[in-house]
Amino acid sequence: MHSATAQAFSNIAFIKYWGNRDNALRLPSNGSISMNLDGLFTRTTVTFNLSQRDSLVINERAVTGKGLERVSTMLDLVRGMANISECAEVTSTNNFPAGTGIASSAAAFAALALASSNAAGLTLSEAGLSRLARRGSGSASRSIPSGFVEWKMGTGDDDCVAVSIAPPEHWNLADCVAIVSASHKKTGSTEGHALAGTSPLQNARVADTARRLDICRSAILKKDFEALANIIEHDSDMMHSVMMTSNPPLMYWQAGTVGIFHAVREWRASGSPVAYTVDAGANVHVICLAEHAKETEKRLRELPGVSDVLVARVGGAARMV
Ligand code: PMV
Repeated sequence: MHSATAQAFSNIAFIKYWGNRDNALRLPSNGSISMNLDGLFTRTTVTFNLSQRDSLVINERAVTGKGLERVSTMLDLVRGMANISECAEVTSTNNFPAGTGIASSAAAFAALALASSNAAGLTLSEAGLSRLARRGSGSASRSIPSGFVEWKMGTGDDDCVAVSIAPPEHWNLADCVAIVSASHKKTGSTEGHALAGTSPLQNARVADTARRLDICRSAILKKDFEALANIIEHDSDMMHSVMMTSNPPLMYWQAGTVGIFHAVREWRASGSPVAYTVDAGANVHVICLAEHAKETEKRLRELPGVSDVLVARVGGAARMV
């Protein structure tokens, strides 16, 4: 019996990944940049044993069907690389509250890639782990390296991996995640990526990516908050424009989401270093300088439609526990 436990942080994209040029290999249509979130992590244990099939338990609840299939697909890749045939028991916990609508697939597949490859006796490089994590969920490739991370488009499977562009201590930022109650059923990102190409705006968004990546990377390296704020809001708005104009259209925003956009822009205009970005959901990630996190959290809690606020600093790399 071979067992290994790993932990990985979630991440928030500053330049978003939306749409694949190859859905099976999860090769993205565009490069992306993100920041790991140290407050929000998944811890996963993988044990290869003599059982008849793979099993999955998340936060103490057994998972079957699509969720288990996606995990088995990654385990198959690992079994292939290690030349083993044992089935595995996978148990996973998130430290962030369930049901808040925080996407957990990035942290989950990064932790699974690290734990399963170790349990199978493999010692993969950071690039190898990022490549493997990518196959579970594209954004998971970015939860392998430390701090501020860029996921390169690459030319194919081999070089389509994420690398750190700056360590966590480079810039003391915080992400105040405003939870906006969303009762409607959401379209998951795997389905969403497949719809990106139906929007006439997607080609323009993809063609413009190198420009946005350059601005964002240089804002991070120079610690220029104003430049970062402008490019991440612009990039988030561009991705949601594609989502809203795809067929069928995806509208993730709620009234509370838009209320936060207006508030954040007002706060910034009056001198506070804050900026918004939104993934495939209604929650708003408000990025700020860490010394403004307390005040930002307090202000967000007072806005209509905000049911909770989670605060995370810049996180490190995925690691063995
Ligand atoms: O990794 P996925 O398939 O869950 O896609 C993530 C998509 C966004 O969160 C909307 C953007 C991103 O780059 O993280």
